[in-house]
Amino acid sequence: MKGLARQAAVIGNQGAPSGPPRHFLDIDQFDSAALRGILDLGFAYKNGRRDRPLAGKTLAMIFEKPSTRTRVSFEVAMRHLGGDTIFLDAADTQLGRGETVADTARVLSRYVDAIMIRTNESRKLEELAHHAAVPVINGLTDASHPCQIMADVMTLQEKKAPLASRIVAWSGDANNVAASWIHAAVRFGFALRLACPDELGPPQRLIDWAQQEGGRVRWTSEPLEAVAGADCVVTDTWISMGITASVNRHNQLAPYRVDEQLMAHAKPDAIFMHCLPVKRGEEVTAGVIDGPHSVVWDEAENRLHAQKGILAWCLG
Ligand code: CP
Ligand code: NVA
Repeated sequence: MKGLARQAAVIGNQGAPSGPPRHFLDIDQFDSAALRGILDLGFAYKNGRRDRPLAGKTLAMIFEKPSTRTRVSFEVAMRHLGGDTIFLDAADTQLGRGETVADTARVLSRYVDAIMIRTNESRKLEELAHHAAVPVINGLTDASHPCQIMADVMTLQEKKAPLASRIVAWSGDANNVAASWIHAAVRFGFALRLACPDELGPPQRLIDWAQQEGGRVRWTSEPLEAVAGADCVVTDTWISMGITASVNRHNQLAPYRVDEQLMAHAKPDAIFMHCLPVKRGEEVTAGVIDGPHSVVWDEAENRLHAQKGILAWCLG
């Protein structure tokens, strides 16, 4: 390598660790010990750890879809850890004019120390990670939302430890968030029961994977069956970003709404979780999400703490 090129490689992303970048793409790609280690880091920061291991580091955040929690919690997490962020609305970058994801990855890797992306297609996340020389973090794709579920598991751990004895019930559309719940159930060892309409159930490959890995994951079309005796009930919007609303979809999902009657079939001290944003009266009633079982604000706060663990792990 000649002069300037070598210099670029050395100073391009200052202080980047040698070896392959530590991506955080999906929960199923980690073993249980690694995931618990990341959450332990998050708990340490939540409980008062105050070091700033990311001083001088910059996280680029690419968004192809809107966000409140993911954007703000990553920005604040980086600042607390001593680092900085750059927000990129994908449509306002050259990605919006057809520059390839691969070239974007190569260029950003020369400026920043890590890249978070929220994208319409999981293929783009994989392409970014493949071509980036710095860690890539999945901030939601059409297929998964692992940062959210790390925060959700952190919340479950706080409210319902030990996890191995717990039953989580999902009622609604088996979407990207549900997929990451399936990954988490297998890796963290709790039971997961999904209730979804036949047309909106989880991909068979995910159920097969969970079984192969020895996970306790099953799905049914009966919400009562899934929720009976559960320690935690979860749902999410019926209309994820990028999906077209239709009367048919609403009719299919109406029996899966988490209302007071459904919640009454869970354990008396069961918690209710939702990644937010919520449409009260659709996937959950106001009485449940604003009621005594709901822990959604603690869950939202934990995005900040769990992502500190993820950032510190990726860039540590
Ligand atoms: N739960 C979540 O990811 O929220 P945002 O879309 O606001 O980031
Ligand atoms: N399933 C939702 C999650 C939003 C945070 C969506 O993809 O829009």
